[in-house]
Amino acid sequence: MLILGVDTSCDDTSIAVLRIVARKFEILSNIVSSQEKIHQKYGGVYPTLARRAHEANLPLVLVQALKRSNTNGIGVGAGAKINPRDIDAISVTIGPGLDPCLWEGVNFVKDLAYKFNVPIIPVNHIEGHILANWLPPVDENIKFPAICLVVSGGHTQLILMRKIGKYQILGETRDDAAGECLDKTARILGLPYPGGPAIAAEARDYGGLTSIVLPRPMLRSKDYDFSFSGLKTAVLYDYKKRSAKERKSKKYIQVMCAEIQQAVIDVLIKKTIRAGKDYKVKTILLSGGVAANKELRAQFQQRAKKENFRFQVPNPKFCTDNAAMIAITGWFHRAKALKSARQIKNLQAIPNLRL
Ligand code: KG4
Ligand code: ZN
Repeated sequence: MLILGVDTSCDDTSIAVLRIVARKFEILSNIVSSQEKIHQKYGGVYPTLARRAHEANLPLVLVQALKRSNTNGIGVGAGAKINPRDIDAISVTIGPGLDPCLWEGVNFVKDLAYKFNVPIIPVNHIEGHILANWLPPVDENIKFPAICLVVSGGHTQLILMRKIGKYQILGETRDDAAGECLDKTARILGLPYPGGPAIAAEARDYGGLTSIVLPRPMLRSKDYDFSFSGLKTAVLYDYKKRSAKERKSKKYIQVMCAEIQQAVIDVLIKKTIRAGKDYKVKTILLSGGVAANKELRAQFQQRAKKENFRFQVPNPKFCTDNAAMIAITGWFHRAKALKSARQIKNLQAIPNLRL
């Protein structure tokens, strides 16, 4: 079976082709066209520009995704080339995400579904991030129940997962998402967008003990919620009290970045491990753009091992937004495919879709 995945939830236009044979997954292509350069000067995503970029990019990214599938040398028959008509279903992100961006993807796949005469499988972007943990290469045997921590630019959620498709949100951020906090604090410090990788690079170059102490918001609260806006405010206060010379110094930026990163990591790990113990889970799954962070991955791995949890995190390229995760989620939900012309016509983008 061949599934075409499409994601336009935020500022990346992505299309992937996933082949499934005897429950084995093979990513034939996973093209991600980033809009980083467009949004850099605004320090965040500008929805109208993002929509326009998706509109321009989608047809080009589709051609690239199909071409790459072919150059990977895997056809439907031996040596055969993948023809768009070989696609069996299209899965698309319908939410959560930015309204104009989601609609661009949804309308694009409606046209494709009509042209290729294939069903559409609507996908929740957050579930896509979670199920990226099943993309190859993978430990096939993820044991349930599991706790998933989804940390991205738009979301920070702690989710109890009893099986694929069965989720309970235990906690989430009350204000900014973890990635949003990194993006905003990076902006205060004059670092480029997206802030997460920029802060990680500065912190790595420093690598020592920090002389700045930032708060770890809600570290000891009894619930599973998060809050990151206080951390952002603390960074702003510290920055403002420094002299112009110190603010610009490499040392200050590096020490501050190391402390911001560690403050976020401390809160994420502590709450996730506590939830894992409270719910007696077997596995901890990490996902979302912030899960690409090397330090977070390493520290999580260490703590999870110490506490006897299995730990799983996707390859970094499947942590940030991509369509391979949307294609695999579509496969797991193929029974919910929309087949009739009327169902497809009525498909809607849902910007505030919940798990
Ligand atoms: O999942 P994603 O690509 O998009 C959303 O669904 O939001 O996540 C983007 C977020 C941004 O806030 C970005 O700064 C953060 O993920 N991010 C990182 C890293 N790479 C991306 N944060 C920390 N370290 C990274 N290496
Ligand atoms: Zn995402």
